[in-house]
Amino acid sequence: MYGNAYMTPEEAKAMAERPENEELLAEFEARIDRGEKIEPHDWMPSEYRRQLIRMIEQHAHSEVIGALPEGTWITRAPNFKRKLALIAKVQDEIGHAHLLYNAAETLGKTREEMINDLLSGKSKYSNVFNYPALTWSDIAVIGFLIDGAAIVNQVINSKGSYGPYCRALDRICYEESFHLKQGHDAMVYLATGTPAQRAELQEALNRWYRPIIHFFGPSDKASVHSNKLMRWKIKLASNDDMRNQFLDQYVPKIRELGVDFPDPNLKKNAEGVWEFSDPNWDEFYATINGNGPCNAERLAVRRWVEDHGRWVRTALMNPQQKYVMPLS
Ligand code: COA
Repeated sequence: MYGNAYMTPEEAKAMAERPENEELLAEFEARIDRGEKIEPHDWMPSEYRRQLIRMIEQHAHSEVIGALPEGTWITRAPNFKRKLALIAKVQDEIGHAHLLYNAAETLGKTREEMINDLLSGKSKYSNVFNYPALTWSDIAVIGFLIDGAAIVNQVINSKGSYGPYCRALDRICYEESFHLKQGHDAMVYLATGTPAQRAELQEALNRWYRPIIHFFGPSDKASVHSNKLMRWKIKLASNDDMRNQFLDQYVPKIRELGVDFPDPNLKKNAEGVWEFSDPNWDEFYATINGNGPCNAERLAVRRWVEDHGRWVRTALMNPQQKYVMPLS
């Protein structure tokens, strides 16, 4: 037995770093099949580690960048109560990023390396955060539907095989469910408001429909990583299954409010599968590869933050020395 309390740290490290061979792989896959959690000190195939780092890191970056479109509305929230709720939500999202960076760090990539890969454009983050939030209705749609989509994905992933990621997701889902209530409350208010408010909400839904369809990733046929991720229970549902689950839960909820997604072909077929118009996958690939409407702006903001916050990090790491805040 390895990875238990009876080993010295050196013995555990040597066990975790054994070179890959068929026997170890079979033992690892048997553990996954039995539903056991894999922990940082356990042996794992290098590809399992690489895939987890890729996915958790992208997820963490999405939380950081995801705070930006909503953050721009903190100063413009329609009233004090909405402002407080939005401040708390944005703060939560940054907290989620910390939890996720911590989980990814257990796999051997440092936070500094991850941030550098985000800033250089090497690492991806969710497509949806490359679109602007033009009106307060966009904030309601993000709060209800983007957070709703994220919850569908995260509840499924939280049952996965890597312990630190699952535990981070459990906590994140708990907080996201409050975000959902906040988004739903804002949606209901607008949907039951004046004709101008309802029209603004519908326009926001029109803008967010395609990015939300894209959110769950390419179709199962086009997905590159799904087979491997599902075999190792990093992902427990395919992209199409998650998208379908989301549409199943949320289309009735928005229709109940008298608004709708702008797609005449959006309907559930006799097999219970949602059909929709071609969501323009070229737009998806352009966006995730750095050419969406706000990619350049989002990374420019993060680079500014990185540069202007460097003196704080340096001061924290060297508490004996005196630091002066730069003026510009
Ligand atoms: N936004 C940005 N990139 C996306 C994406 C999205 N919505 N959906 C897929 N991609 C990228 C993948 O990262 C992958 O790129 P890469 O090979 O350069 O890393 C490529 O598109 C092919 O997609 P696929 O093979 O289907 O990727 P996947 O099996 O990792 O599935 C997710 C995509 C998003 C479902 C999966 O990564 C996931 O569940 N991630 C964790 C949750 C998360 O990040 N949520 C974000 C916001 S809360």
